[in-house]
Amino acid sequence: MSNVIFYFTGTGNSLQLAQGIAEKLGDCEVINIAKYNGDIPAGVERTGFVFPVYFGGLPRIAHSFLNNLTISGDPYLFGIANCGGASGVFLKQIGGYLRRKGKTLHAGYPVLMPENFILLYDRFSPDREKVLFADAERKITTISETIKEKKAQTFEHAGNVPFRYIANPINRAFCGLSAGLDRHFHVSDCCIGCGKCERICSGENITLRERKPVWSHRCEMCMGCINVCPVKAIDFGRLTQKRERYLNPNVTLL
Ligand SMILES: Cc1cc2nc3c(=O)[nH]c(=O)nc-3n(C[C@H](O)[C@H](O)[C@H](O)COP(=O)(O)O)c2cc1C
Repeated sequence: MSNVIFYFTGTGNSLQLAQGIAEKLGDCEVINIAKYNGDIPAGVERTGFVFPVYFGGLPRIAHSFLNNLTISGDPYLFGIANCGGASGVFLKQIGGYLRRKGKTLHAGYPVLMPENFILLYDRFSPDREKVLFADAERKITTISETIKEKKAQTFEHAGNVPFRYIANPINRAFCGLSAGLDRHFHVSDCCIGCGKCERICSGENITLRERKPVWSHRCEMCMGCINVCPVKAIDFGRLTQKRERYLNPNVTLL
């Protein structure tokens, strides 16, 4: 295998970007980091990291994946900050993990995708989502060209200046808390026991008991379970009661 792309996703946006770039590169394996604890073997030419931005930085699972990753050989390394607004220090954090292994993040790109954080934000309008998907397809093409040519690409740390300074501590604080935040998820009597929440949870944090989801406090807060429920039986406190759900329509998650 010449190329490998590691991804993590809650609602499918990162998977769309990872699969799109993989298709353009060719000879590329797309690997979910939630199901992989291997290394990058020698002989891989290009390796990418495609994750959603959480509170201005990496998801908790991506921190530990990058920290533990062993990279043999000298692949060209790139990162994609899949974000709903601003990527903060996401690319800087990936660069830091690689630098501590004696490697370089050769290129990094923020890509705007539809918002899935329905605890804080409304789902984008259908028109806005359509525009973002079209822009993302164009970006996938241009990004893939530079990756094919192994071009070095300087990247911007998106967000205004104060956000850049506070993003790292905010992201670290969120990652410290996220595992237990699932205590606020609850399920209503509307639940039909379909098990989609259990299956979409790549952290294996949900099990069905008496045909209802139970969370085990290893949560990534990826928003997969709450968004996948076909009858909106899952809510987070009262924050999400009136919010529309979002799942990326361009990939198969289950
Ligand atoms: C817990 C959480 C925190 C988020 N924080 C940010 C953020 O700081 N900046 C941003 O641009 N988007 C943020 N988002 C939005 C997601 O990064 C964005 O919608 C992404 O496309 C979701 O990707 P996925 O479908 O692969 O999970 C956040 C989403 C979640 C669930």
